[in-house]
Amino acid sequence: MSVPEKIQARWSSRWVFILAATGSAVGLGNIWKFPYMAGKNGGGVFVLVYLACIALVGLPILMTEIMIGRKGRGSPVNAVRKLIRESGASRAWEFIGWSGMLAGALILSYYSVIAGWTMAYTVKTVTGQLAGLPPDQVSGQFEAFVSDPKQVLVWHTAFMLMTSGVLARGLEHGLEKAVKFLMPSLLLLMLGLLSYAITNADFSAGVNFLFAPDFEKAIEPGVLVSAIGHAFFTLSIAMGAMMIYGAYLPDQTPIFGAAAIVVVADTLVALCAGLIIFPIVFANGLEPAEGPGLIFQTLPTAFAQMPGGVFWGTLFFVLLLLAAWTSAISLLEPAVSWALERFHLGRSMTSWLLGGVVWLVGVLTVMSFSDWAFEFSFLGITKENGIFDMIDILTSIIMLPVGGILIALFAGWVLKREMIEELLGLPHDSLYRIWRVAVRYVAPVGVAIVMITSLFA
Ligand code: TRP
Repeated sequence: MSVPEKIQARWSSRWVFILAATGSAVGLGNIWKFPYMAGKNGGGVFVLVYLACIALVGLPILMTEIMIGRKGRGSPVNAVRKLIRESGASRAWEFIGWSGMLAGALILSYYSVIAGWTMAYTVKTVTGQLAGLPPDQVSGQFEAFVSDPKQVLVWHTAFMLMTSGVLARGLEHGLEKAVKFLMPSLLLLMLGLLSYAITNADFSAGVNFLFAPDFEKAIEPGVLVSAIGHAFFTLSIAMGAMMIYGAYLPDQTPIFGAAAIVVVADTLVALCAGLIIFPIVFANGLEPAEGPGLIFQTLPTAFAQMPGGVFWGTLFFVLLLLAAWTSAISLLEPAVSWALERFHLGRSMTSWLLGGVVWLVGVLTVMSFSDWAFEFSFLGITKENGIFDMIDILTSIIMLPVGGILIALFAGWVLKREMIEELLGLPHDSLYRIWRVAVRYVAPVGVAIVMITSLFA
């Protein structure tokens, strides 16, 4: 097995790495998925379960991925390959790299479609197309929009062009520039919206919905399953994105500190998103819906009827779009870095070609919201939107958990101790021991149990 040359490029500082990794983590998952999951699944208790998953499973795996990337200094496939070689392990572990790369591309194929909806809603809001409309018309517009493949295709295409465009410019001129500009903008938008929610909306009703504990709901098995699954998704772990970002990390950066900042930032954004969305929804006398409806029907209804709705609504959709953009970049970078090493076509050509492939797969998702949709069942889970649901289940219920388990086992049992201790550079020995227990036992066993329950429950 041949291993290509080491990656030479580096982030220009550890802060840029932290921005990029936070940009990857903060995405549609935080702003769109987390708030309604928490609200529906028992409020404060769910938030606690979720925080436990993030700390016990998410953070250790995130650190492990960054470490594997930096030690291997290659695309996920080749970084893992190199560590396999150094530790004399079986080549079967290469599966981690391959499946991660594929999962990223598959997730991006539908992620881009939803990000495309966000672009369309930015335009609808800023041009005042929804202003003053009654609730049923706002909702009706969404249904008409997503089931019109022509419109959705245009936005999906635009978003994939934006994503490939950044990747094509490379690390310094593409990824670094994008995150340096987009992440501070995201923070400002978020703070602006939060101050509106606190001063002008029904903040206490929002806090109540998000945090009031409901023990009965939170102990249902399904809730634990969604909490762990979401921990993987929201931290962008288990598919090599953090490995390739780690491969560009300068040598001396302490991994624990950087990873901890990313985890805290990601969690804060998720909580703030809830504290923006729910107060606005309640202040306008609406009930929070589940799923895509919350962001694309309920919230636009609130913006349509509240004073200043065009302004705040536009800020909100731009926020969502920027968050999706910095995540999308990280979903494709593992595949781009691998193809670069393998085919030597140059960064630009590689990024456009792979973007094209993902775009094509995404067309299937576009279709699955239109008249072409078909019902799909798998292991007793029945969904309405055919291909879209199939890809979602395949990636988030199967590929991400399996990838996470394998990464943890690989680092915990296969890699040599010296290799890891030197790399992690943990401030205390006890932290190293905690990390080790987490990757050897807690993460693999916990995730396996959850996965099996979710598949067969
Ligand atoms: N974390 C992003 C979100 O919350 C999505 C994402 C980006 C992702 N990169 C990933 C999910 C890698 C899984 C794996 O929206």
